[in-house]
Amino acid sequence: MVAARLQREAAAGTGPVRQVGPTARGERNGTEAMRLGVLTGGGDCPGLNAAIRAVVRKATVTFDDDIVGFRNGWHGVVEDDAIPLDVARCRGILPRGGTILGTSRVNPFKVAGGVDRALATLERRGIDGVVAIGGEGTLSVARRLAETGVPVVGIPKTIDNDVNGTDFTIGFNTAVQVAVEAIDRLHTTAESHDRIMVCEVMGRHVGWVALYSGLAAGAAIVLVPEEPFDLPVVAKHLGRRHEKGRFASIVVVAEGAKPRAGTLELPPPEIDEFDHERLGGIGAIVARELEQLTQLECRFTILGHVLRGGTPTAFDRILATRFGIAAVDAIHDRAFGDMVGLQGSTIERLSLAEATGELKRLDSGLLDDVARIFLD
Ligand code: F6P
Repeated sequence: MVAARLQREAAAGTGPVRQVGPTARGERNGTEAMRLGVLTGGGDCPGLNAAIRAVVRKATVTFDDDIVGFRNGWHGVVEDDAIPLDVARCRGILPRGGTILGTSRVNPFKVAGGVDRALATLERRGIDGVVAIGGEGTLSVARRLAETGVPVVGIPKTIDNDVNGTDFTIGFNTAVQVAVEAIDRLHTTAESHDRIMVCEVMGRHVGWVALYSGLAAGAAIVLVPEEPFDLPVVAKHLGRRHEKGRFASIVVVAEGAKPRAGTLELPPPEIDEFDHERLGGIGAIVARELEQLTQLECRFTILGHVLRGGTPTAFDRILATRFGIAAVDAIHDRAFGDMVGLQGSTIERLSLAEATGELKRLDSGLLDDVARIFLD
């Protein structure tokens, strides 16, 4: 509609006539064309491709930049592994989950000679600005590199939604949507059998996905890492629901939820190659214990990586697109060391130092004012 109007106005010689198409290479819109690198690091999530596409489109259309995509997060910068990116390469990727660049949790500060090799790659390729799309780990590396003079801007993504300085991270909305659809399905089978259904969702340090999906899908109980749980108390609560005639209950548990000290022994966690605890499995333990405590039938479902796969919601596509555009503007404004974030309805810039270092945990407003009323 808008394009048609602009064409009509241009043909009639009315309305704003906008210069479209390449100007002399080297400068556009008052700023020098740049060489940009973009990367995706950490756990993948839906919406990464939408962000890559927006970076490439904005950088190409507005500034005539050259862009490469570093493969597999910071690993690609350390190893000088990159592919050229242009508008044509990004066609069709908007609705696709995952990341066309691949991802990893490689941290140049933990690889022998990693930082020097990363700096050499950027120097050799003449990179003027790096857009790092990642969660706490990837953005912390970006902050440290920015402190050494690397021209980097961050975009927050993670289904966990635990990055400070942004109301939402890319991927969170999709993960919640997928969890809600699954829990809605668990509801009907729980009701048919008068069962307690325990649904485990991702959430290593924070319970954003658990609480949002639990509230949206009408769970009876949500267990989150921010508040250690006490299963005898949970069991009593479920028993009371039963006495009141509510024979089916949904318990949503974040994978990182922990029992109150001394109430339940958990097996020691496996550690992955990046020193992360490999989580997943608390749902089975909670279901087993609740069955014993309540004498009601319990089943469990672990949603795990299902939450990170597949097509992003419209919300995540738009958020990623806005972040991509804002990050390229930040690079051209030389706002290096900044991250873009959603605050209210606007995209703001804040320093990576403010965004990283401490995780964004569930706020008490949501926990106290909403959750305590609806989780019954
Ligand atoms: O990206 C965050 C996250 O999805 C966490 O919720 C989860 O604990 C972790 O990644 C799983 O990581 P991996 O895919 O490496 O097992």
